[in-house]
Amino acid sequence: MLETNISGLKLKSPIILASGILGVSFSSMMRVIDAGAGAVTTKSIGPKARKGYKNPSIIEVYPGTFMNSVGLGNPGIDEFILEIKKLKEHNIPLIVSVFGDTNEIYLDVATKAENAGADAIEINISCPHAEVSSIGIDKDLTFNIVKFLKEKLTVPLFVKLNPNVTNLKEIALAAEKGGADGVVAINTLAAMKIDVNTRRPILSHGSGGLSGKAIHPIAVKKVYDLFKFLKIPIIGCGGIDSWEDVIEFFLAGASAVQIGTALYKGIEIITEINKDLIRYLKENEYTSIKDIKGLAHQYKTQEVPDFD
Ligand SMILES: Cc1cc2nc3c(=O)[nH]c(=O)nc-3n(C[C@H](O)[C@H](O)[C@H](O)COP(=O)(O)O)c2cc1C
Repeated sequence: MLETNISGLKLKSPIILASGILGVSFSSMMRVIDAGAGAVTTKSIGPKARKGYKNPSIIEVYPGTFMNSVGLGNPGIDEFILEIKKLKEHNIPLIVSVFGDTNEIYLDVATKAENAGADAIEINISCPHAEVSSIGIDKDLTFNIVKFLKEKLTVPLFVKLNPNVTNLKEIALAAEKGGADGVVAINTLAAMKIDVNTRRPILSHGSGGLSGKAIHPIAVKKVYDLFKFLKIPIIGCGGIDSWEDVIEFFLAGASAVQIGTALYKGIEIITEINKDLIRYLKENEYTSIKDIKGLAHQYKTQEVPDFD
């Protein structure tokens, strides 16, 4: 019932681990798969090892809602290849998230990941507290990088969208036109928290990205809007904390979902959500989660009322 095919990737569940959470080692990603995830996305990996920002780099701002500026701390692709190879020995569906300073560096990192066994590449052009955010806010830069990578890579290419833009439609369309096999909506929302006693921003970097419960309705609206015009699949991401959140993403038009922040509660949440999804589908007499994709669009929303 939960089997999902997304751009040729065959997943036993539509729930994918989001980038940046538990995605740096073979053993942590293996645990997430054992808990029932259909695939894992790695932490964003760059050309060389890089330290993240200093602590405090992650804080809980409301229950279940976090702000982080961990930066793009990662071991670098040459080191990370060892983890990719171990995952592939266990035949784990693996999406490697990559970033770089130029299109050529993205390609170099992505090619190394592909050669080591990645089943798909996700490009992070959207981190709100790193320099890569500049690509994801410009439609031409987005089109160029996607087209450039698609000409060289053989595995599916997903584009992680930056919600911190005025016109997400033009960026998503640029990704599609460039040949992307899917988009992930959304990355974190740019945010800041200031300590009233010390009168300074709490995160060491100053600002960060908001994730978790509070961003879920925003992510649902983005997926709903994107579904109206995109032909490529949408992977919903943002604030999943329960089975209802997954269903909502599907009703809005998602073909799969990613879960990140809620794993702070324990990875068993994935097992629970899978169980509840099956119960919901059975109770409502659906045979597959695919059957509910985009159903919310059948409801005609009210037009702007006339003035009396
Ligand atoms: C601590 C932390 C680190 C993250 N690191 C990355 C990253 O390296 N690359 C990326 O594309 N997204 C990263 N993200 C964003 C998540 O993948 C996801 O898009 C976002 O958190 C929304 O989903 P969630 O509310 O389920 O966490 C990170 C999020 C968090 C909380």
